[in-house]
Formats: sequence, structure tokens, C-alpha cells
Amino acid sequence: MTRFLLLSFLLLVALAVGVSNAASSAEDYWRSVMQNSPMPSAIHDIIYPSKAAVPTSHEDKVGSVFFLEQSLQPGSTMTLQFTRTTTGVPFLPRQVADSIPFSSSMLPGILSRLSINPSSKMASSIKNTIADCEAEPLAGEKWFCATSLESMIDYSMSSLNSSNLCAMSTSVAKATSPKQKYTITGLKKAKASELVACHAKGYAYAVFHCHPTTASAYTVALDGADGTKVQALAVCHMDAAPGVEEAYDKLGVKPGSLPVCHFLPQDDLIWLEFRSNDLVA
Ligand SMILES: *[C@@H]1O[C@H](CO)[C@@H](O)[C@H](O)[C@H]1NC(C)=O
Repeated sequence: MTRFLLLSFLLLVALAVGVSNAASSAEDYWRSVMQNSPMPSAIHDIIYPSKAAVPTSHEDKVGSVFFLEQSLQPGSTMTLQFTRTTTGVPFLPRQVADSIPFSSSMLPGILSRLSINPSSKMASSIKNTIADCEAEPLAGEKWFCATSLESMIDYSMSSLNSSNLCAMSTSVAKATSPKQKYTITGLKKAKASELVACHAKGYAYAVFHCHPTTASAYTVALDGADGTKVQALAVCHMDAAPGVEEAYDKLGVKPGSLPVCHFLPQDDLIWLEFRSNDLVA
């Protein structure tokens, strides 16, 4: 039902802006500013949703499984389930997204504009996402909530002071995969010293919470026990960021003494300067 309403909404959007495909704006923008940089699956899957999309498991989210950087080695095994945070909602063209309010004080108007029942699960996701985006950053933190692909690209370019970026995400060769043992078969570390990380948030259309980070990023090839091949992104933090603090505790190391790492779910993105995409073994 929600899906139907959303589709009706998108149809209205499409009529309103005079385009037949609400996604084409995002895709055209990608082509025009990202040169020949390949589109990561986290973005491709939004623009071209597949029918087999996305059962979300809230337990054992892959992003909450922390490990030490020294475990990132060929031959290491880990029990993981690769998941998505969100459920296959589309990008809106920037001009449409910018015309829709995005603020807690406007919540009733937002819900009515998007034809969303105020007591639905989607309404509470919308409320929580706006609250996360409006929260006061802790000292030294910066973030930006992107309500369109165009604004996510522009933010990443300005944050990294470069118009020559690439984006990466975790990609899993099967539509769904169980929680299972994975073996690392290879990995590369990105040379970039600065990244922008963007996390997909629950919303009626694609919204990402983006922030600069000095974490290091790895692309990691994994083989699942059932044969599923995964090209995963892992990030390792030195800082005791919120959520990471707890991980230090669990791993029994002093916060900030060793990098702790986690894999990214399939709908998260890392942006980095293209030159730095020369990954090192
Ligand atoms: C951004 O990049 C330009 C050109 O590469 C450089 O001249 C400038 O100093 C950089 N700005 C910052 C704030 O790093």
C-alpha cells in the first residue's frame, strides 16, 4: 500500500516536473559530473531497482560487527550477514526534493504532501531521520543530509575539495544472502586520507546522512560458505566515534589505541578523490 502511494506520488512528481522518469535527473547528473567513474551498486540499485529487492534484517547488522584491523587479512573468516538499511525507495530529482520541506516543524505538511499516514511506520522513519539530520553535531563533527543524488555529489565534491571523485559501496552477488561464514580472499586499502561516508536513512525517498571522515577504507573480496561472492567496503576508525566506543569495549582494547573496523551495508557509500582510488594491495 505504501509502495502504491509512493508510486502515485512519484507519478505526480513526474507530471509536475514534466519528465517521464524521475530517476533520469539523478542519472544525467551522475554522467555529467562524475566523468567515467563507475556507478557504485548502492546508487545503481536505487536508480534501477530490481524486483528481488531487499528484505531488511535488523539483527546482526553488518555495520555493527566490529573487528580489529589486523583481522583484515586473506584467509581470515568472519560470520556476517550483508543487509541494507533502507527498502528500495527512489531518488527524487533535486528540484523536486528541494521543493519539499525537510524539517521537524513541517512534519504534518511533509506527511500530507507525501500521502503518508501519520501513524504508519514510514511516518516514524521520516520523523526519526529528520531528527537525526537536525541534531546538534558534537564538537568537531560535521554532517549533511542529502535529499537527492545531485546534492550528495555536490556535498562530497565541496567537502573533499575536488571535482574528480569516485564512489564505492558494498556489492553482493545475490539478492539475498544468509548470515554465514565468509572468508577474506583479497583486499586493497584506499590511499585517500579523507573520505566522505554517506549512510542511507529510512525515508519516503532516497536520503543519505553524509559526513567527512579520516577513517581508512578497504575493498575486501569475500567468499560466503554458500558460494556468495561479496565485494565489501570496510572502514577502520582510530577515533572513538559514537557507536565505535562500545566496539572498543567489546574488543577489549583501549579507545583510540588500535583501529577498529566494520563492513558497510549495501546501501552506504564512500566518496573519495579519484586519484586516491589507486587502491594499494
Ligand atoms: C582546494 O583545491 C584547490 C585546487 O586544487 C586548491 O588551490 C585550494 O587550496 C584547495 N582548498 C582547500 C581549502 O584545501
